[in-house]
Amino acid sequence: MKIAVRYFTRSGNTKKLADAIAEALGVEAKDLSAPLTEKVDLLFLGSSVYAYGVDGKVRNYLEDNAMRIGKLVNFSTAALISGTYAQISKIAEQNDIPLAKEEFHCRGSFAMLHKGRPNQEDLAQAAEFARSVAGV
Ligand SMILES: Cc1cc2nc3c(=O)[nH]c(=O)nc-3n(C[C@H](O)[C@H](O)[C@H](O)COP(=O)(O)O)c2cc1C
Repeated sequence: MKIAVRYFTRSGNTKKLADAIAEALGVEAKDLSAPLTEKVDLLFLGSSVYAYGVDGKVRNYLEDNAMRIGKLVNFSTAALISGTYAQISKIAEQNDIPLAKEEFHCRGSFAMLHKGRPNQEDLAQAAEFARSVAGV
């Protein structure tokens, strides 16, 4: 099974999840400057929200790589909202990308909120989530 891990991050929180997920799956987590060079069975894509929306680069990445994504798996960090699934789901639907029902989300530090998150427990849970979805 071919698996890729990509993420968008501004302050590093989502990258921490991406690295934990990638390590659990034996692949390398890359940012969105790395297009998919071949079709993958699973794309684990990490994102976050900034003033309620995911960054436009996440939409662009999905539009540009839609044909190479067998199934998209969403993961995210945020300070307040409960995840980016709803927003990613809309983009996936508009681009005919199958989206896994399972997702992983945890708090991400922001200003004085949620210091230290994602923490070691979050990372362990993200790794467990990835292994379970990928069946490895
Ligand atoms: C400019 C800005 C706006 C944000 N707006 C929101 C928001 O509307 N809702 C929310 O839950 N978190 C918001 N956050 C918090 C981030 O989603 C959170 O810190 C997240 O973990 C950042 O991920 P990153 O470090 O991977 O970029 C905002 C953060 C920044 C910097």
